[in-house]
Amino acid sequence: MLVQIPDVLKPEEVAAVRNILEQSAWVDGKETAGEQAASAKHNLQIREGSKAAMEAGDIILRALGRNPTFNSAALPLRVLPPLFNRYDAGMKFHAHVDGAIRAIPGAGMRMRADVSTTLFLSPPEDYDGGELVIVDTYGSHTVKLPAGHAIVYPSTSLHSVTEITRGSRWASFFWTQSMIKDDGRRALLFDLDAAIRDVRSVLPDDQPGVLGLSSHYHNLLRHWAEL
Ligand code: NI
Repeated sequence: MLVQIPDVLKPEEVAAVRNILEQSAWVDGKETAGEQAASAKHNLQIREGSKAAMEAGDIILRALGRNPTFNSAALPLRVLPPLFNRYDAGMKFHAHVDGAIRAIPGAGMRMRADVSTTLFLSPPEDYDGGELVIVDTYGSHTVKLPAGHAIVYPSTSLHSVTEITRGSRWASFFWTQSMIKDDGRRALLFDLDAAIRDVRSVLPDDQPGVLGLSSHYHNLLRHWAEL
């Protein structure tokens, strides 16, 4: 399931994040890639765990916390601190699958990456190329969103970033361990949640049908969730 989430960050938050990144050092993106991904990866990143990454990441984590669509789509159990990448002219990331298991910095714990998120930090008119291409069971999807918008996709999917031919593309990316490991089940719950919101916008909450659907959602979540 691919879910686009508009306006995760307000324009002033995009500006604040960019301001932090502008004053930071960029390092070779191969540092955080596994063996196969490293050979496919040609980009720059802010160093993981650096003060800049933590500060800018906190702005994003706060925004995610108040975003009902992200929470409904990802059903997050744990979110890794956001990372930041940059593709200048000539840079790209060939097709790869994100690593399944990630260390949680400073926690002495590992987590499973179920959901990948890319949050765009550059307006599309700032660069040519740099499309995120995600392959799922329905084919290949090309994604290029306004600054502050995000795309959520299964970490199991093959994806790539096409070569930049002009300008510079800045983005944040991060992984979420979901309470629901299976993408198909997550999609069912997301659709059901959206339908319930729709019904609740026209019917009072004490209608037996509304109550029944809400119960059904929570009981499915209870049945499937792994904490
Ligand atoms: Ni990736």
